[in-house]
Amino acid sequence: MTVGIDSLAIAVPQRYIELSELARARGVDPAKFITGLGTRRMAVPDPGEDTVALAATAVHRLLDQTGVDRSRIGLLIVGTETGVDHSKPVASHVQGLLGLPRSMRVFDTTHACYGGTAGLMTACEWIASGVAKGRVAVVVCSDIARYGVGTAGEPTQGAGAIAMLVTEAPRILAIDLGVSGSSSADVYDFWRPHGRREAVVDGHYSIECYLDALGESYRSWRAQARERGLISPVATGLSSESLARVIYHVPFPKMANKAHAHVMRLELDDAAGHADAALDPVVVAGRFEQQVAGSLRVCAEIGNAYTGSLYFGLLGLLESEAGALANQRIGMFSYGSGCVSEFFSGVVQRYAARMVGDAGASAILAQRTAITIEEYEQVLALAADAPLPIAPSPGGYRLEAIRDHRRIYVAG
Ligand code: COA
Repeated sequence: MTVGIDSLAIAVPQRYIELSELARARGVDPAKFITGLGTRRMAVPDPGEDTVALAATAVHRLLDQTGVDRSRIGLLIVGTETGVDHSKPVASHVQGLLGLPRSMRVFDTTHACYGGTAGLMTACEWIASGVAKGRVAVVVCSDIARYGVGTAGEPTQGAGAIAMLVTEAPRILAIDLGVSGSSSADVYDFWRPHGRREAVVDGHYSIECYLDALGESYRSWRAQARERGLISPVATGLSSESLARVIYHVPFPKMANKAHAHVMRLELDDAAGHADAALDPVVVAGRFEQQVAGSLRVCAEIGNAYTGSLYFGLLGLLESEAGALANQRIGMFSYGSGCVSEFFSGVVQRYAARMVGDAGASAILAQRTAITIEEYEQVLALAADAPLPIAPSPGGYRLEAIRDHRRIYVAG
């Protein structure tokens, strides 16, 4: 049985800022944000575009696009680290707003940016186990990355939701179930204590934790993939080159450069049997352009979407390259601070170009509005219960108010 991502849909905040303008406003060389971090633009949600509203909008689009029979949905999981309540999950709001059936499991999964992958794997394994009995799952990644004005993390904020229909015989990506490498550890690299809207991050340490986890996860995946005959050594001896593309979780797009160079270095070390193999920077840059760069386009437009980052990478890659990648295997690396990680792989399906095209991501991104840095600061200063009084667009959802601790949403 093949299981994986059949279709997907997105929702992003209506407003964004240019990172070059943010740099100038902060007295920083714009090249630091554009070249150093790899981001061009950053989504700016107002309190009306909270995690629930973004998730519900993405699911509405998914259901519209696919026309899936709602009674066949047996599982709804929202991966998020910026939920709106300590007890009531985002998924429960989404179920109510979309009028989804009661006869299904509905819950959130949280482990920093890994929550979406936890949801995706749970859904795939639920279907593969036979327990789903022909039913399908909806997995949503929805998050708002917020660090605050003037902080080191400020240029790495962002937001967005991506909803995925997970089925048997998927039309976008068949996951190599049972072939995945995980690594986890108890570390304080990034966290958000109760009551805080802004995350706390030890950014440089987090990069170290990410690379350390990547190395362990990748080696574990590689051993399993070799055993299952999914990859074979290629001329240069680097197993990662058996993968047509590799997509990395990116808190900022430049992280993917560091990640891919790390994988290449550890492969050379493993081949040489010692830990100081020399890397040719020209070869590294060439491999990166060929295997990784194509997945960063959408992430560079919205900034960090936490749980959604990896899957916005998949979307960005397949929007432009799905035809050429049909029937080819790609690798994916998910990282959640704290930390847990997973390297897994899947095969791009022949209908992927059409299914990803249906999401209309380029048009959705093109319809956004650019705002000034002054306007961005005003939006960031709004209280969480003070959404801008704006009507949602057709098919969209917005938080209207919070009354008596209950969140009231309106549909467009
Ligand atoms: N032109 C080009 N590049 C420049 C530059 C310039 N004028 N000035 C700096 N840079 C480069 C730096 O060399 C660096 O690149 P490198 O790491 O490849 O060497 C990059 O820009 C960032 O500079 P740095 O000094 O490290 O930035 P910083 O101390 O302000 O912090 C982060 C950057 C990413 C650590 C910080 O924004 C952060 O913590 N963000 C949150 C990350 C996160 O969410 N992590 C969650 C876990 S996944």
